[in-house]
Amino acid sequence: MTTWSPSSWRSFPIKQVPAYADPEALAAVEKRLSTFPPLVFAGEARKLKRKLAKVAEGKAFLLQGGDCAESFAEHQADNIRDFFRVFLQMAVVLTFAGGGPVVKVGRIAGQFAKPRSSDFETIDGVELPSYRGDIINGIEFTKESREPDPERQIMAYRQSAATLNLLRAFAMGGYANLEHVHRWTLGFLKGSPASERYQHLADRITETLDFMRACGINPDTTPQLKSTEFYTSHEALLLGYEQALTRVDSTSDEWYATSGHMLWIGDRTRQPDHAHVEFCRGVQNPIGLKCGPSLQADELIRLIDLLNPQNEAGRLTLIARFGAGKVGDHLPGLIRKVEAEGRKVVWSCDPMHGNVIKASTGYKTRPFDAILSEVRDFLAIHRAEGTHAGGIHVEMTGQNVTECTGGAREVTDAELADRYHTHCDPRLNADQSLELAFLVAEELRKTHPSGIGSGDEEEESFEAAE
Ligand code: PEP
Ligand code: CO
Repeated sequence: MTTWSPSSWRSFPIKQVPAYADPEALAAVEKRLSTFPPLVFAGEARKLKRKLAKVAEGKAFLLQGGDCAESFAEHQADNIRDFFRVFLQMAVVLTFAGGGPVVKVGRIAGQFAKPRSSDFETIDGVELPSYRGDIINGIEFTKESREPDPERQIMAYRQSAATLNLLRAFAMGGYANLEHVHRWTLGFLKGSPASERYQHLADRITETLDFMRACGINPDTTPQLKSTEFYTSHEALLLGYEQALTRVDSTSDEWYATSGHMLWIGDRTRQPDHAHVEFCRGVQNPIGLKCGPSLQADELIRLIDLLNPQNEAGRLTLIARFGAGKVGDHLPGLIRKVEAEGRKVVWSCDPMHGNVIKASTGYKTRPFDAILSEVRDFLAIHRAEGTHAGGIHVEMTGQNVTECTGGAREVTDAELADRYHTHCDPRLNADQSLELAFLVAEELRKTHPSGIGSGDEEEESFEAAE
């Protein structure tokens, strides 16, 4: 194998590269970025890896979610706050029902670059370069806007820094108070057609909190109940940007990507002999790998050899995204091969990217039932194989958008036009996200009647800051 360096990916074949008109301007931006402070630090990425190792061992659950694509236009504090709020509610429901720690990883503070199935988009006979995410070009369908602009990388970096700053404040500054989070969930149930089904679970959380309070365990006496650990992740797609933010950690002398805690490789760029795998194999962060229907078991092992040669638990998360009705065709073969080869991985389920359809109204959507069905199949297959269904990976927002159809408070095809705001794929709205968490919680209970984390005394349920 060739020697790795942060730039070694440049001599490999590469897919999904934007056509920058001025390579010198691009190089100048990358050079500037390489002098900017890191967004995250290596110790945090290592800590996340230890948390994910627990997931790989079957002792914790991974919740990963956020926007398909963050945008410059929607950088309001409310958006970040509302996302974080729903995300925490999901985490509390899953923690309680799963009876184990939930590792919380946002698709946020860096999720800007998008792979596209076609380099060009044609509207009314006009052909322009496809939108590739705000870090590359603009979504507006004009020649100027679709031109890749390197300066956007600086803007994405600064937005990521500001977003991360607010998230850190929310996570550590009291906003994540467990009692508040639960109160929000009770508020959600009050107005929801799904309330009857989930009230029982919510009542048990209420009782537990009341009991803890009676015993003197409350956010004032137990600061862990006021804060939480939250990590960031994004697709490592724009490798020049990633390289510029890759730094040597002075503690370990190893290379870390500092653009986010966890990076993943998309389904379109996971060729073992190509640039994206080359880049990711050399950074020590936790890495995700999207596994779509075209991935064969032998190729998966080859990718694991490259990405996790030391077989380190927590290093690699396999994110299965096959589509409803197709999980059974693909997942068992991959699980069996990974088990036979003794590879330590986290298995997570992305029930979003295999379930995109075109609604009768022309909108790209995802039916809530299909999303749920994919998660159920994923959990059932792991139950049957005796392996740990480690997590879910979803595209979601805290806003009341109408992008995915269905859910208890049903979004119909006709309503998609009302609040369809996504810059890329359709996301679960706040209600649908929380409903999904309740449904996954019910399923987890079937597999883990006495709790995911049972027998593991080191970890507390609502993950405390260490
Ligand atoms: C995504 O996660 O937004 C994405 C593009 O996924 P995939 O690579 O699985 O298609
Ligand atoms: Co997407």
